[in-house]
Amino acid sequence: MKNRILVIGAGGQIGSELVRELCNRHGNDAIVAADVRQGETKCVFETLDVMNAEAIRQTVKKYDVKEVYLLAALLSATAEKFPEKAWQLNMEGLFHVLNLAKEKIIDKIFWPSSIAVFGSNTPRQNTPQYTVMEPSTVYGISKQAGERWCEYYYNRYGVDVRSLRYPGLIGYRSAPGGGTTDYAVHIFHEARERGSYECFLKEDTILPMMYMDDAIRATLELMEAGTEKIKIRSSYNLAASSFSPAQLAAEIKKHIAEFTITYKPDSRQAIAESWPQSIDDSLAAQHWGWKHKFSLAAMTADMLQHIGAAREKV
Ligand code: SER
Repeated sequence: MKNRILVIGAGGQIGSELVRELCNRHGNDAIVAADVRQGETKCVFETLDVMNAEAIRQTVKKYDVKEVYLLAALLSATAEKFPEKAWQLNMEGLFHVLNLAKEKIIDKIFWPSSIAVFGSNTPRQNTPQYTVMEPSTVYGISKQAGERWCEYYYNRYGVDVRSLRYPGLIGYRSAPGGGTTDYAVHIFHEARERGSYECFLKEDTILPMMYMDDAIRATLELMEAGTEKIKIRSSYNLAASSFSPAQLAAEIKKHIAEFTITYKPDSRQAIAESWPQSIDDSLAAQHWGWKHKFSLAAMTADMLQHIGAAREKV
């Protein structure tokens, strides 16, 4: 089969959901899932280390890959524990894939950025696409540098690379790992399993969030949009709803009346406070028609329904 799509980081929070949806749309034969750890997928799986440029090149050639989704990264909280490793992993992997496109071996790349590109000097409400950035985390620094390199490769070499600044992502099929927004996934599982949750952020810490269904749809809509519609080659602001742990807990209580939440902020609090509270994604709307579907209420209902259903099956 020709023109396959390769997903690197296929075992991660976004990767596992994206592979599932790409298989549904294009068929299992069209997708190659890759990760450092062996995973369960409907499509072909390759064990692949994003730091190994030659291995990526071989995989691309072996399967005649034309499109790459590069999702392997160390997220904000983990990256603070291993700053140099995070910088290397987050940047080198990107160069390996950008260079394959520069050499015209592949045609198109998706690479995720994040709200972590913003910092404490950024306007926190309705943060514009173009504004002061100055990220203070290693993760944010790597994402901002990556954005600059994506735009550079587009301008200088014509590389068709597309990117989104994801907010915190919430889904029931996959677990997050090492992020500051992870509480918003854990809380649902603990609410179902224990009826209580101890949150590592303060109750009033508002962050931009998005349901995974919206995030996957945004990613595929961006990738399927005509080239003329993609006017930003660094990374697009993307948004759905913003809320605090207390607001999310109140929404969960509408479904599980006895649910309780306590707060024990840790080092992730400072990271959260350096990020915006809400994001202006109007350029994504104007350029390629983006619009989120899930509100906080709709997302909470859907999460609890699916997590409940999974538990009943066990
Ligand atoms: N969700 C990510 C994190 O918390 C941000 O991109 O690290």
